[in-house]
Amino acid sequence: MRESALVLIKPDGMRKGLAGEVLSQFLVGDVHLVGLKLVAVSHKKAQAHYGHLRDKFFYKEIVSYLAGDLHDGQPVVAMVFAGDHAVKKCRAIAGATNPEEAHPKSVRGKFGRITTKGVYENLVHVSSDRMEAEREIRLWFKKTELLKH
Ligand code: CDP
Ligand code: MG
Repeated sequence: MRESALVLIKPDGMRKGLAGEVLSQFLVGDVHLVGLKLVAVSHKKAQAHYGHLRDKFFYKEIVSYLAGDLHDGQPVVAMVFAGDHAVKKCRAIAGATNPEEAHPKSVRGKFGRITTKGVYENLVHVSSDRMEAEREIRLWFKKTELLKH
């Protein structure tokens, strides 16, 4: 089934100088890049992005994390990848949410860590399912910023 997924290289990936490396892992995957930009993330945007997780104990931390507060105010690289089963394929490239459980060759398995406060600094966001992807892509991109696919 043809679909799109939002992928963000989060501020820890930027701070560690890993944006190129992470992008490469997605580019060699079986998905097509149809949008890409650098975004300085406001707290309002981070709250909107993670709104569905507002009741989780880690909500405040992940809003700060996405807004760059934990990483020198670094921005994020926002991307959209399209293709058959793009969400599943992009999530496989990223690896499991918990970097300790992520496959050692996945982005999160290679480069992620758990902070002393218990936050998973796992380098990338990838939409969890197709519905979430559609909502997130609308939040991050204008239609005119995406290639037709
Ligand atoms: O990002 P993903 O869809 O894999 O996981 P999520 O459940 O949507 O959680 C969003 C983000 O919150 C994760 O990517 C982690 O950075 C963080 N998180 C955390 O720090 N501790 C948890 N127990 C779960 C998630
Ligand atoms: Mg998620």
